[in-house]
Amino acid sequence: MTANASPRPTELTTRFPTGFLWGAATAAYQIEGATAEGGRGRSIWDTFATVPGAVLNGENGDVAVDHYHRFPQDVAMMADLGLTAYRFSVAWPRIQPAGSGPANQAGLDFYSRLVDTLLAAGVQPWPTLYHWDLPQPLEDRGGWPERDTAHRFAEYAALVHGALGDRVGNWMTVNEPWCAAFLGYASGEHAPGRREPAAALAAAHHLLLGHGLAVSAMRADRPGVRVGPAVNLYAVSPQTDAPEDLDAARRIDGMQNRLFLDPLLLGRYPDDLLADLAPYGFAEHVRDGDLAAINAPIDLLGVNYYSRHTVSGLPGEATQAVSSPFSSVSPWVGADHVRFVPAGRPVTGMGWEIDETGLAEVLTRLHRDYPAVPLYITENGAGYDDELDGDGAVHDIERIRYLDAHLRVCHGAIGAGVPLRGYFTWSLMDNYEWAWGYSKRFGLVYVDYATQRRVPKDSAAWYAQVIRSGGLPG
Ligand code: NOJ
Repeated sequence: MTANASPRPTELTTRFPTGFLWGAATAAYQIEGATAEGGRGRSIWDTFATVPGAVLNGENGDVAVDHYHRFPQDVAMMADLGLTAYRFSVAWPRIQPAGSGPANQAGLDFYSRLVDTLLAAGVQPWPTLYHWDLPQPLEDRGGWPERDTAHRFAEYAALVHGALGDRVGNWMTVNEPWCAAFLGYASGEHAPGRREPAAALAAAHHLLLGHGLAVSAMRADRPGVRVGPAVNLYAVSPQTDAPEDLDAARRIDGMQNRLFLDPLLLGRYPDDLLADLAPYGFAEHVRDGDLAAINAPIDLLGVNYYSRHTVSGLPGEATQAVSSPFSSVSPWVGADHVRFVPAGRPVTGMGWEIDETGLAEVLTRLHRDYPAVPLYITENGAGYDDELDGDGAVHDIERIRYLDAHLRVCHGAIGAGVPLRGYFTWSLMDNYEWAWGYSKRFGLVYVDYATQRRVPKDSAAWYAQVIRSGGLPG
């Protein structure tokens, strides 16, 4: 056998730039547990999870995957995977149990230990300041629809940044403000479970304002801080070229994407949305100076991408449950008479259509329509009902295919000049999937909830290899 005829070692068809960040993401309420320890106060998710019917099987985050106690092992697991960055969230009720006032030292100490452990393991900490666990006392005073919550958030952000900013250089302010506003206050699928469309719009504005005020507070403290929001963006397609479908696509793209991107990056709300939302009194929440605050320069934009929405404005069967996680369309402000329709693509275990071309569209659009900001995929992944196989492993080939396809798109986007600097898969390990409880698993690592044993899935080995080699095999 000549050397030429021997099987070629697996070649990389895609090599990512040196320094590209390889990460995984989690969030506090989904993994920490220990909800009554360390002086933690209650959050809206503690309350919501007790409402009958709110969460599948009535499950809550009291124990979750016990990360609060097991973080040293979890960080060791990250190091084994070769992660260069880890995105986690800080639980506001650990820092300010009453939602305002001085910091609870035990809360800060927990995150300080986590940060030190990550740094010692060579993993960059990427904290998110708000991943949906509003202190219950702030909800009792009105929650995000109240303007004051934005100011409280900026104060909290400054407290956390003041304590960790000497060791943490990269921060995310709010996670998926669309979900926090519309699932929390319009459809009621998430905490606090309110169904008040006009309040949801106020919440959206105040989440953005809270982001902007937090950026300024952190920057004033440390001018070199790198900070930005993490927004969930979707590719949106009309089902047909009918004017009703085109208009449905405009409205959903508006509510889902432009309502957040335009004020953050352009300093204005889109005119067409302002017109759509006038009946809900949206503009009344926007005071002089707010847009400038929201448009404070950011150093990074986190993009959470999962799927594409195909929409129709024509009458027909309500099929959105098949194609969208956000099934309660009717309470969506400004989205009346929009149906989410299946486009016939394969779906994940969440019923979400798999379409990596949507990620390409999202990235291209950001590059084309908005000022250049370093981009990071801060979430991307697939949820399934994974089970341990007879051999004790989890053979999650669908997840590997999903991640592979989306990473190829990332690579292509970088080649096309998109300033994409890193990728965090959702999620490091199985966890509490909000209203779905523990029924849906997104992790690279399987968690046996009865014993808290962690079992890396095949996707974990695959991702570790991608990281080691710096790219994807052919
Ligand atoms: C969105 C959220 O940020 C995260 O908390 C959630 O678990 C995943 N995407 C999957 O739904």
